[in-house]
Amino acid sequence: MCRVIAIANQKGGVAKTTTTISLGVGLAQAGKRVLLIDADPQGHLTMGLGFSKNLRVTLKSMMENIIMGIESDPREAILHHAEGVDVIPSNKLLSGMDMSLLTIEDREKVLKEYLVLLETEYDYILIDCMPSLGMLTINALSAADSVLIPVQPQFFAADGLVELLKVISGIRKRFNPDLKIEGILFTMDSCRYNNAKRNKQAIRDAYGNDIRIFDQSIPRTEAIAEATSEGISIFAYDKRGKGASSYSVIVEEVLKNA
Ligand SMILES: Nc1ncnc2c1ncn2[C@@H]1O[C@H](COP(=O)(O)OP(=O)(O)OP(=O)(O)O)[C@@H](O)[C@H]1O
Ligand SMILES: [Mg+2]
Repeated sequence: MCRVIAIANQKGGVAKTTTTISLGVGLAQAGKRVLLIDADPQGHLTMGLGFSKNLRVTLKSMMENIIMGIESDPREAILHHAEGVDVIPSNKLLSGMDMSLLTIEDREKVLKEYLVLLETEYDYILIDCMPSLGMLTINALSAADSVLIPVQPQFFAADGLVELLKVISGIRKRFNPDLKIEGILFTMDSCRYNNAKRNKQAIRDAYGNDIRIFDQSIPRTEAIAEATSEGISIFAYDKRGKGASSYSVIVEEVLKNA
């Protein structure tokens, strides 16, 4: 059975895209069939895997076909990455989608309708969300079985979480009662700094009883940032480093969660 995981946090730059790529490639290396969806007009997932930002067939075209009721091959937008994951790309044209969605019925479910057409072909579909709680993110959360929340252990991180958790609870009530929280993942963790330790502890104290928080955090490393600019995953860039080994632990946790 296919599991759909949204990687979401409306706070920008907390490693949503990096986590989507790393988790996706890690699951593919474990023999799973994996599709990554770029649900962000910034197109960072697309570019972060080395694809062009000028592609004609993208997530936007696929969602438009659903909205207009146009019959087409749902696989038309799919790209294959050398590291064994499939990708549905996006670019800045996707930014018009939030507005288009506002004017139609069942606007929260367009992405779900699309993913249903692909579900039989994948074990995991990971959705890289944009840094906002607009219609595209609502679509991702409505389509997902679970949401994984990357959090950078900074002072204001807990604030943003309150908002995100409210939205998740609204989505459960209205569109997707079975939506689970895969877990909170601390990213870009400056492990040795007391400030990061304090901020992680504050989030554990506030949410640890209700929400799973991964024991393993992702350290801030030069190699992870460099991998992104090379268009490859941390597993291909520096497979023996701390970045790869910490993401491997998260891959194992997600596999266990199945
Ligand atoms: N563990 C890490 N160590 C060092 N740099 C990292 C790490 N994780 C991510 N980065 C870098 O931080 C930047 C932001 O990461 P990323 O793009 O994954 O965040 P994001 O949450 O997807 O951002 P946005 O909200 O804009 O979509 C990127 O340049 C990425 O290479
Ligand atoms: Mg991103």
